[in-house]
Amino acid sequence: MNIEIRNLSKSYKSRTKTTQALRDVNLTIKSGEIVCVLGHNGAGKTTLVKSICGLLRPDQGAVYLDGRAVHENLSFAHGRCSAVLEGSRNIYYYLTAYENLRYFGLLNGLGHREIDEKAAHYLRLFALEQFRDVPVNAFSRGMQQKTAIIIALMKDPEVLLLDEPTLGLDILSSDAVIEILHQLASDGGRSIIITTHDVHLIERLNARMVFMNQGQVVRDSRLPELKRDGADRRYQITLQLRPGGPELPADADLRERQGDMAVFETADCRWLEQVLASEQLIQIEKCSQSVAEIYKAVMSGHA
Ligand SMILES: Nc1ncnc2c1ncn2[C@@H]1O[C@H](COP(=O)(O)OP(=O)(O)OP(=O)(O)O)[C@@H](O)[C@H]1O
Ligand SMILES: [Mg+2]
Repeated sequence: MNIEIRNLSKSYKSRTKTTQALRDVNLTIKSGEIVCVLGHNGAGKTTLVKSICGLLRPDQGAVYLDGRAVHENLSFAHGRCSAVLEGSRNIYYYLTAYENLRYFGLLNGLGHREIDEKAAHYLRLFALEQFRDVPVNAFSRGMQQKTAIIIALMKDPEVLLLDEPTLGLDILSSDAVIEILHQLASDGGRSIIITTHDVHLIERLNARMVFMNQGQVVRDSRLPELKRDGADRRYQITLQLRPGGPELPADADLRERQGDMAVFETADCRWLEQVLASEQLIQIEKCSQSVAEIYKAVMSGHA
């Protein structure tokens, strides 16, 4: 399903204060795309997710699902979106895991057999099989989160909105979520939007990244492109230090020093050109930036 977000603004108003959470956001998300929304706490990520599925009414602008404005077609939007919202109660604590899946499955129009098949499949996948009949108020936070994700997946939605889905999940469960997201996206037809601070998840999804700051989209790029841009500018150098030989560049970021051997990073291409012919130059490697470094670099321009 295609998602068009046009000039979307949203503020929260109380008697004493107005907080502008989204400011003129424009985004197009195509069918089959996975988008990671990133940004500091309070950047507007959750507000964006809630606006897409129609839980919040925009002050200005609109979200369109296949051309239909969400706030004017709420039941259409609710029928096509599944959202797991961070910090919200997505499940009933006094029901067991299976009862939750059954209850929400029926609400979402699934048949009894389909519910049982899907419940068995996902409970196995998320290692919750033996907790099927345990009330979820006895679950750990991660187990509750997994139950909420299963409810969202069982609906097989055209738009899947996951607000910090791996928060509290152990590494195996987090990997199971990543595996499922890859499968869902490759099946095509579905659009998946994930807000996250989880660098492991971002690295593994290798997806489009939308950076938000103070309610605005400040960068929209694919992870491989961001990595390539960053990597082009930095090199890891191994250099033998000798009297009369080349000096380290002014920006050298020393990683290792053993005897007369130094390993450091630099972005000084002029220095590199000058020492290329030197015998002391042992090795040059392009640096690959980590997701955390990319995040800091993008956000540092928008402090
Ligand atoms: N219900 C609300 N009432 C008043 N202000 C709110 C409400 N929800 C969010 N805000 C404010 O709107 C801004 C955006 O909040 P939002 O929850 O969308 O940020 P976020 O990017 O999801 O942050 P986090 O990474 O902490 O989850 C913040 O300044 C927040 O304080
Ligand atoms: Mg949030």
